Amino acid sequence: FAPDQIAPALLGWYDRHARMLPWRTPPGSNQRTDPYRVWLSEVMLQQTTVAAVAGYFHRFTARWPTVEALAAAPEAEVMAAWAGLGYYARARNLIACAGAVAARGGFPDTRDELASLPGIGPYTSAAIAAIAFDRAETVVDGNVERVTARLFAVETPLPAAKPELTRLAGLLTPQHRPGDFAQAMMDLGATICTPRSPACGICPLLGPCRARAMGIATELPRKLPK
Ligand code: ADE
Repeated sequence: FAPDQIAPALLGWYDRHARMLPWRTPPGSNQRTDPYRVWLSEVMLQQTTVAAVAGYFHRFTARWPTVEALAAAPEAEVMAAWAGLGYYARARNLIACAGAVAARGGFPDTRDELASLPGIGPYTSAAIAAIAFDRAETVVDGNVERVTARLFAVETPLPAAKPELTRLAGLLTPQHRPGDFAQAMMDLGATICTPRSPACGICPLLGPCRARAMGIATELPRKLPK
């Protein structure tokens, strides 16, 4: 299949089936997503489920509606509000990053500048650049690795396959609506292209999916035994 056929099919599906998550704007809307809300949600979602994050996200944004408000909050209050999400290093990085962003007058709008902020790694910088600033950056999490491994029938096991999967996911990333595309890949991985029992029959990428054609979708991505 031609990689540039994937994004239109996936975005069409996303327009109909996007999960309405608290930090999202409706698919295709011109309303730009607030980088503060994207950043906060992505940091909370690292190693924590969407369901567990929603309540925390609402409480944080109600209490600290802007990055400046969060930066001005007493550290102990932020740590207390974080309690239950775990990984307290993330909360300390959150506070450090809020301070740095407030000091420079707002979030930068490129991936490289975002990646220079405390606690923002390759995943989070790409997510904020794509989702909040519509930059054509490729966001690669576990869901995206799985969807990509199956589409291209990548047989190399993880973690060795990571660079190849990142490159292939990059071939799929469109110039138009890259933020919606990134979230559509995550939603597809979370709701249809699931690890054990993918719902291939209703998948918008059923046609081009090589693993499905080979009958090995559930086997991919392969993983090296730990
Ligand atoms: N997991 C991490 N970030 C996400 C997002 N923006 N949408 C859905 N799932 C996610």
